[in-house]
Amino acid sequence: MKKIKFVIVLIVGIVFFNSCDSRTTQDLEGVVTNPTYVKNIKPIMDAKCVSCHSQSGNADYPDLDTYQNVVDAQNGTNSSKLLCSLTSSSCTSDRMPKSDAPLSNSTITTISNWIANNCPEQ
Ligand code: HEC
Repeated sequence: MKKIKFVIVLIVGIVFFNSCDSRTTQDLEGVVTNPTYVKNIKPIMDAKCVSCHSQSGNADYPDLDTYQNVVDAQNGTNSSKLLCSLTSSSCTSDRMPKSDAPLSNSTITTISNWIANNCPEQ
């Protein structure tokens, strides 16, 4: 009997830990009303986008690894794609981040607030 209880506690523990683990720092912070690149946007890009979007040298596939590159992606001819790519696959062939869970609504709202505020760096 004791053994069964232990196993149940162990399983509940693993499920609990995994559910916490899959949350990003940004999820826990909630929506940031006045985000800056350095404080809020760079950590999101580094965690979720830069692994693919870095030094690609491909205009259809923007680098998102520096402030200037993210601003260029946002200001370029395909600017609407930066936000749009996060919520649907209608503007890119796959929803971003590609092959990963979607960003949380609060993270997407933070990015949207940053763009609405003209992409402040600091
Ligand atoms: C696993 C690799 C991978 C990750 C991670 C990833 N992307 Fe992409 N992204 C791609 C590829 C490949 C393309 C090229 C088009 C396609 O396949 O949809 C692309 C295309 C895009 C485009 C469209 C560019 C254009 O002009 O058509 C945007 C914007 C974009 N990604 C933003 C992001 C953002 C923002 C993140 C992080 C939240 C992200 N991506 C994470 C691989 C990735």
